[in-house]
Amino acid sequence: MRAAVLRGPGDVVVEERPVPQAGPGHVVVRVRSVGVCGSDTHYYDHGRIGRFVVESPLVLGHEAAGEVTALGPGVTRLAVGQRVSIEPGVPDLTCEQCLAGRYNLCPDMRFFATPPIDGAFAEYVVVHEAFAHPVPDSIDDDAAALLEPLSVGIWACAKARVSAGSRVLVTGAGPIGLVSVQTALAFGATEVVVSDVNPARLALAGELGATTLVDARESRVTDLPRSPQVLLECSGVPAAIGEAIRALDRAGRAVLVGMGGDEVPLPLSVVQERELELTGTFRYANTWPTAIALVAAGKVDVNRLVTGSYRLDQAEEALTAGRRDQQSVKVVVHPQT
Ligand SMILES: NC(=O)c1ccc[n+]([C@@H]2O[C@H](COP(=O)([O-])OP(=O)(O)OC[C@H]3O[C@@H](n4cnc5c(N)ncnc54)[C@H](O)[C@@H]3O)[C@@H](O)[C@H]2O)c1
Ligand SMILES: [Zn+2]
Repeated sequence: MRAAVLRGPGDVVVEERPVPQAGPGHVVVRVRSVGVCGSDTHYYDHGRIGRFVVESPLVLGHEAAGEVTALGPGVTRLAVGQRVSIEPGVPDLTCEQCLAGRYNLCPDMRFFATPPIDGAFAEYVVVHEAFAHPVPDSIDDDAAALLEPLSVGIWACAKARVSAGSRVLVTGAGPIGLVSVQTALAFGATEVVVSDVNPARLALAGELGATTLVDARESRVTDLPRSPQVLLECSGVPAAIGEAIRALDRAGRAVLVGMGGDEVPLPLSVVQERELELTGTFRYANTWPTAIALVAAGKVDVNRLVTGSYRLDQAEEALTAGRRDQQSVKVVVHPQT
């Protein structure tokens, strides 16, 4: 099979590799669509993210979907031909965090495209059967792949306890902000304010149902007529984080999804006087059933985020599309082409 391999910063080549074999409880998936994430581009540019360093050739891509082509021994949940969305992180399923149901916090997580685990810019991958989620035919391959970033938004809304009538502020209208907007609306939010500095992304947020758009180059979220109860921070920009926390109502809840500087200033008196709740999120746990249901029901449209698609031999172009084009939101790679 062919796989697009990152050999070092700025160096991706298509290599021939053996088709992987499925061990016990695993399946082989023929990959049809893979979304490009900011983390893929970061590994491509810098060869590392924090403590994760690309020390040997790495296949990128962790937002993937395809169809099952072979079953390992003992697989009972899936059949050959089944279309699946891949949940790219498999925890050890035995540690204290896993047993508590917080498997996203498993210290032994094996996650696609995170050194040294290969990702999905390849014609075939092997997946644990419980993490290859069947999707109905109403969800196409690109949408099935994008259930991964959607899961980030679902987890953020769940953590923020977004519910009927919630007033929500989403800072940053990138792919994560845009799925968070849609998920918040699906969870019952009636006001969803979105801020960004990119007019094309703000316009898309409006088309997807955001009720107020704030161009952060000229307006401030602290000047909103009614303070939001929930912040879903999806920019990772330190200045935006502080201001968005200040914009929250008393007893508000701030969920920090965006990853920016390791340390950011916190408006402590605001957090104290308004008794704000503040949490981070790390990926997601048990979100695929909700993601599948929301897309199948038409409550969330992830296809609207797709601004370009590329063949496997164009993986490098796909990884750099965002910086070439301000209009770009989410690009996908189709490894069978
Ligand atoms: N916590 C997690 O598990 C998790 C998972 C996935 C992604 N992330 C993080 O979430 C963030 C969003 O991901 P993405 O793929 O949408 O990234 P992105 O870079 O495409 O989106 C960030 C957006 O923030 C906007 N922005 C810049 N300055 C701003 C400002 N002052 N105010 C408001 N918006 C501003 C940018 O224009 C951009 O549209 C990233 O930091 C990413 O690392 C976290
Ligand atoms: Zn564990």
